[in-house]
Amino acid sequence: MSDIIFEQIRSGGCLSYLIGCADTHNAIIIDPKSDQTDHYLSIAGRAGLRIQYLLDTHTHADHFTSSHTLGRKLDAMVVMHRSSVAPFVTMPVDDGETVIVGKLRLRVMHTPGHTSDSLCVILPDRVLTGDTLLIGGTGRTDLPGGDPSQLFDSLFEGLLKLSPDLMVFPGHDYKNRSSSTLQEEIANNPRLQKRQRDEFVRQMRELDLSMPTHLTEALRTNRTGGKTVEQMISEAASKIRFMSLEELRRQIEANTDDMIILDVREKDAYKESHIPLAINIPRGQLELRVNEILPDPTQRILVYCEFGKISTLAAAMLQDMGYRRTIALDGGIKMWKDSHYPLVS
Ligand SMILES: [Fe+2]
Repeated sequence: MSDIIFEQIRSGGCLSYLIGCADTHNAIIIDPKSDQTDHYLSIAGRAGLRIQYLLDTHTHADHFTSSHTLGRKLDAMVVMHRSSVAPFVTMPVDDGETVIVGKLRLRVMHTPGHTSDSLCVILPDRVLTGDTLLIGGTGRTDLPGGDPSQLFDSLFEGLLKLSPDLMVFPGHDYKNRSSSTLQEEIANNPRLQKRQRDEFVRQMRELDLSMPTHLTEALRTNRTGGKTVEQMISEAASKIRFMSLEELRRQIEANTDDMIILDVREKDAYKESHIPLAINIPRGQLELRVNEILPDPTQRILVYCEFGKISTLAAAMLQDMGYRRTIALDGGIKMWKDSHYPLVS
């Protein structure tokens, strides 16, 4: 085997992997997570690697993949099992196929059960098991596309028949363990001690697990390539400038009236109380009313809302519409009130 560069990236309980060929400097990321994007790029940059592939071991229900955004940014292929419905997959793979990364060969094994599109990635000395097999556990089978009987086959007829010496690198671990081996899992993993299909299926059905926090949003974005709310807000935030609560209070007290203060909450909330001198255009009416209410695009505009999120989106939108001096309040009227700053009704 050619020399391998292998980095495990931990983010909460999620594990992703950057695997590179030391000879050719080609690389693949397995299960890239949206909040680790800059981390991957900095590791790859330091090691002089070009990321050529992004692979998701399955459609994740608990976190947000960055395969599609990184794929576009890096002009890299996005690899998933062919049964994945995600439209951003550019390289659908089937059981037994190989992805070549420089001089490394990564063999794909389709292992449905946790989801119908789950796969494991096999290298000569290790296997990346996604959520099919975890250290001391298995992926759950009660989420959309899960099937305990299929997981039984994928494990006992597939994965566990590979060489017992293979190191196991899972997609999750919540106890700070980084790897184990197939042999150790076969011997010690409690879920693998149920070796009859019925017992195994019953054990999986009896697990009473709570739903992942971002289930609906994760499935929506991971299956479509759409954006998360956090991503929408952070993209908007990267385009605009902000003003602190203290600075706004200072400006109001100094009575410098060269700035329009724009409250984008609903009318009733505005009527109840608002920041002194603020005018109100609810967010939902903004695009259609700017020509009438904000005729001067060179005017400085400060936007605020309840918590500082909608105002970030609104400020970025106003910038797009040509109001280049728009800024957003860093925080919302909630924090303004909590700070006991002046309000008018
Ligand atoms: Fe998963």
